[in-house]
Amino acid sequence: MDVVNKIMDLKKERKAVILAHNYQPPEIQDVADFIGDSLELAQRASKIDADVIVFCGVRFMAESAAILSPEKTVLLPEWTAGCPMAEMIEPQDVVKLRERYPDAEVVCYVNSTAAVKAVSDVCCTSSNAVKVVNSCKSNKIIFIPDKNLGSYVSRFTDKEIILWEGYCPTHHKVLASDVKKIKEKKETPFVIVHPECRPEVIDLADEVASTSGIIKIATTIPNKNIIIGTEMGLIYRLKKTNPYKNYYLLSPRLICPNMKKTTLETVYRSLKDMQHVIKVDEDIRREAVKSLNRMLKLTYQNIL
Ligand code: 13P
Ligand code: SF4
Repeated sequence: MDVVNKIMDLKKERKAVILAHNYQPPEIQDVADFIGDSLELAQRASKIDADVIVFCGVRFMAESAAILSPEKTVLLPEWTAGCPMAEMIEPQDVVKLRERYPDAEVVCYVNSTAAVKAVSDVCCTSSNAVKVVNSCKSNKIIFIPDKNLGSYVSRFTDKEIILWEGYCPTHHKVLASDVKKIKEKKETPFVIVHPECRPEVIDLADEVASTSGIIKIATTIPNKNIIIGTEMGLIYRLKKTNPYKNYYLLSPRLICPNMKKTTLETVYRSLKDMQHVIKVDEDIRREAVKSLNRMLKLTYQNIL
């Protein structure tokens, strides 16, 4: 029996679902029950009817699922699949920032550890960051850990945004010169980038959106030549969703090595041996779930 069939059989046996992020390799997207951006995956994880969630993505995403669904077993197929940006801030850094700006609220990008979420007021993802910040009572916001997403949000609010020096190593590698070069080469190109890109890249883009937001925009606009400024995994999803357009990656450097660590073999072993279980310390979970739930309530209040 091939590995895909073995995964399907084990999935039934374990009453498991496979959630995959939009950046996952094609063969992982093909075995997933649901593919989405960070927000959609968190929402799914909180509602899904299953005993086991196999999370094909990076650790902070699996951790969010474990925080939101403590009664389920959450598995991360590859133990070392982390997000470097999530490691760029520690809970004690947040405590110090709060001491320095006592009247500020802490908005925490979900690309962070459970312990950092636990000491924050509310979480956000790239698709709802502006809405979350504008919903805060305070006029001063400590935005952690992504300085690029924080600076993007500051374009759409009158609030003072205090930034942290975190960034995504993959998106940060893209330069304004990459956008200029590709715009010269392609005929009537339309550039859509992720808000984790540098401000000078965002300045040159036609649209800025989360990974699923990029798919929505790319499929609805009339343009045929679309330049994608986010991790390369999204191109496969775009081609499947609308194969009649041309998608070009803004830079060949747009590869997240951690997202590429999941393989069919690790997914199979994960289901077979029930590894690697993502557990969040209950004291941390109890606090972190408040920040995540505040975000989910705010985002889905009109449709729940
Ligand atoms: P999205 O929430 O847009 O899917 O982004 C997640 C991420 O890690 C981007 O690098
Ligand atoms: Fe983290 Fe960047 Fe990879 Fe997203 S693309 S998971 S932010 S390192």
